[in-house]
Amino acid sequence: MNVYDSARMADVLAPLGFLPIDDAEGADMVILNTCHIREKAAEKVYSELGRLRSLQQEKARGGGRMILAVAGCVAQAEGEEIMRRAPYVDMVFGPQSYQNLPEMVARVARAGRVLDIDFPAEPKFDRLPEVAGGTADTGPWSTFLAIQEGCDKFCTFCVVPYTRGAEYSRPAADILKEARRLVEAGAREIMLLGQNVNCYHGEAPIDGEWGLGRLVRELADVSGLERIRYTTSYPADMDDDLITAHAEVPTLMPFLHLPVQSGSDRILNAMNRRHSAEDYRTLVGRLREARPDLALSSDFIVGFPGETDADFQETLDLIDAIGFVQAYSFKYSARPGTPAVDMPDQVPENLKNGRLAELQNLLNAQQIAFNKDCKDRILPVLFDRPGRREGQLVGRSPYMQPVHATAPASLLGTIQDVYIEAGHPNSLAGVLPLSCRRPSDKRACA
Ligand code: 5AD
Ligand code: SF4
Repeated sequence: MNVYDSARMADVLAPLGFLPIDDAEGADMVILNTCHIREKAAEKVYSELGRLRSLQQEKARGGGRMILAVAGCVAQAEGEEIMRRAPYVDMVFGPQSYQNLPEMVARVARAGRVLDIDFPAEPKFDRLPEVAGGTADTGPWSTFLAIQEGCDKFCTFCVVPYTRGAEYSRPAADILKEARRLVEAGAREIMLLGQNVNCYHGEAPIDGEWGLGRLVRELADVSGLERIRYTTSYPADMDDDLITAHAEVPTLMPFLHLPVQSGSDRILNAMNRRHSAEDYRTLVGRLREARPDLALSSDFIVGFPGETDADFQETLDLIDAIGFVQAYSFKYSARPGTPAVDMPDQVPENLKNGRLAELQNLLNAQQIAFNKDCKDRILPVLFDRPGRREGQLVGRSPYMQPVHATAPASLLGTIQDVYIEAGHPNSLAGVLPLSCRRPSDKRACA
């Protein structure tokens, strides 16, 4: 979501004459778009601000001016403190305020400083310009589209309901319009975004509301859109219609990020997760019935307050039973203002470290086994960026694996059948049919 927000900030700033550049040195404006989800992410902000301050001073010595801004969830949560601790920062604004950037820049130009962390009455999407499409690193072919934001679930460890604000679903007509525009700009794949994307319940174009299943079906009719994905989902919000969409919509990709956090019901309950480990198993069974090749990814937290060895073992058992092709795992990080901070039996750091290592060993083994299993298969790959090596392109398989292949640049933005020669821990290596490897033959394979 932060990558999406950064791209949208660039869209808002473009009419003012600002263009994104790769290096902060010499820039007229630097925006740090920040994450508050774990302590480590939040800590980075102050050290990074120190470095940027030197660049700002250097620019001032040359007679120039660098506007320095802190955006995102750290700004939302600690805005006043940033204003106090870093008086050289010109603008501090939260994830629901960046549509106001033109007014903020005007105020800073008149020698003011701005703190904008109020949640607006009117959704920011209504005031954002039409998207240019794409994010800086992938070009227009695979792109994000935010359809939902915020969260009302209040998991006891999580800052999102406080920093991103209340749950909001964009009207379906706006989303369809934006999707068509993105496809016209070159998108072959759209990743629908939301903190709780599968609780989407946007206003329907005619009457009532659409859920995510209906929205996916309508998007599948957008001509030229070849792949649809969505992230991140909340297990208890997977409804029947969405599950059937996985069986019925061929362009809905067979990969689902479905965070479970823990395999222990006692811990899930303390986390206020509203699902049990058994609910999760049953749900995955139903999803796999609908789409037998569905590949799953998840998020895990180890060392939540009160987690015992037995609870942790239940998480390992769940992982064994489900089988994940990819996962993100974290040590529990106490976040100020969330209920879990005050819970008894906080788990010592050394125990958390040991559990994380064990969990990651198991998850890595599952990921490697899945990647190795892909050897000798032919997978359709959407090439969306040049590879590190000359003459190489990188794309994504349906299961989100990065796939490297020798291919002419003319195949960027196309989907090709790739023969997988090797499965590595984090990627696949493949070859194109001989006829596609020469630039002159693009038409034969595009
Ligand atoms: N500590 C550790 N991990 C967290 N996450 C969210 N809050 C915390 C926290 N306080 C993880 C969850 C979530 C992912 C985005 O970040 O696993 O799914
Ligand atoms: Fe945070 Fe996700 Fe729980 Fe919402 S559902 S509170 S975003 S972990």
